[in-house]
Amino acid sequence: MPRFTSETKARIDEIAGRYPDRRSALLPALWVAQEVYDGWLPEEAMQEVADHLGMSRAEVEGVASYYTMYNKEPVGRHHIEICQNISCMILGSDDLIHHCEHRLGVGSGETTDDGMFTLSRVECLGACSNAPAVQIGATYHENVTKERLDTIIEQLKSAPSEVAHPAQAKMPEQGQF
Ligand code: FES
Repeated sequence: MPRFTSETKARIDEIAGRYPDRRSALLPALWVAQEVYDGWLPEEAMQEVADHLGMSRAEVEGVASYYTMYNKEPVGRHHIEICQNISCMILGSDDLIHHCEHRLGVGSGETTDDGMFTLSRVECLGACSNAPAVQIGATYHENVTKERLDTIIEQLKSAPSEVAHPAQAKMPEQGQF
């Protein structure tokens, strides 16, 4: 069942209008699709993007499968992405990941039984100077400790889902540096 509304298509058209070739809008169009499809990209989502940008689905899938920020499987209401790259690793991201796995009762790449949380290991989030970094939905958390992560998880239990989208990314709050 297609989910793109006229508003969705208008959003993509507005982005595509910034480029000489509308196919150049593929990456931001996939972000829009991921938002519309509850945080991941099923085949129908990629087909809708392909149809709207005048591309083949194979071209769209080829790009979507290359980038880890596009989810190819359903994710929980809150997607916790912990950076495992060098700066974060040196400053304790492995401990953070193991702590989170233990706390949530899932391994990396898995979703809790209640569908509340998906935990993922990811590569550099571009916040190396404030490592370890964690992205949850559209929000970055920096200098994260196990204690802070526990607090964040508790708060998220009653928070609405937030789908990651670069144009909506939120900077860390004051005092989190
Ligand atoms: S290494 Fe973790 S944000 Fe860059």
